[in-house]
Amino acid sequence: MPIIAPSLLASNFLRLQDECDMLNASEADWYHLDVMDGRFVPNISFGLPVIAKLREASQKPFDVHLMIEEPGKYAADFKLAGADHLTVHYEACPHLHRNIQQIKNLGMKAGVAINPHTPVQVLQDVLADLDIVLIMTVNPGFGGQDFIPHSLVKIQALRQRIDQLKLNTIIEVDGGITEANAPVVVQAGAHALVTGTTIFKAADPIQVIHRLKQV
Ligand code: DX5
Ligand code: ZN
Repeated sequence: MPIIAPSLLASNFLRLQDECDMLNASEADWYHLDVMDGRFVPNISFGLPVIAKLREASQKPFDVHLMIEEPGKYAADFKLAGADHLTVHYEACPHLHRNIQQIKNLGMKAGVAINPHTPVQVLQDVLADLDIVLIMTVNPGFGGQDFIPHSLVKIQALRQRIDQLKLNTIIEVDGGITEANAPVVVQAGAHALVTGTTIFKAADPIQVIHRLKQV
């Protein structure tokens, strides 16, 4: 049964309380919160005050995906705002090991995200330190894009490595996940599915989450 992490990027920002009520009543496991800075990615989403307010509306773990440069500057602030998991991008972190240790020292689960062009192998020397590897299955910055098929090869390779090393690292996938491709993504080895459009643009999001849990 996969972990389901709805991405609130696709939610109705004018009705965030209703969206939280829906997620709380659903089988969703985590809240996936996409933070963009307009520099690392060509888009700006939302940040600390919005996350801190959302925190009041839910007890489910907050899975915060930082698509920002210099994430180390803000890690403590995201902890304060309510992040349970903090994921930084490999491509944004010249001192990735330090970022990972900082996140763990702050008491959060540590994740590293990789863009579609980044091989999973670059994480081999930090893999044992990671709680989550987030494989981007679209180019980060926008919801509603198409899943990149080559991602499946990356998921398989990483899953093999994690199993070989007997690690508990969670493989999370993000971007373009639909009810149609979720089975093959889980089959390839993903443990957690981020889904924005598929859930929030559906007529019955709770049912979609329920069906994704059955994959
Ligand atoms: C993209 C974000 C994703 C996005 C996924 O940069 O990291 O979390 O919201 O949205 P969908 O599921 O619509 O591709
Ligand atoms: Zn994301």
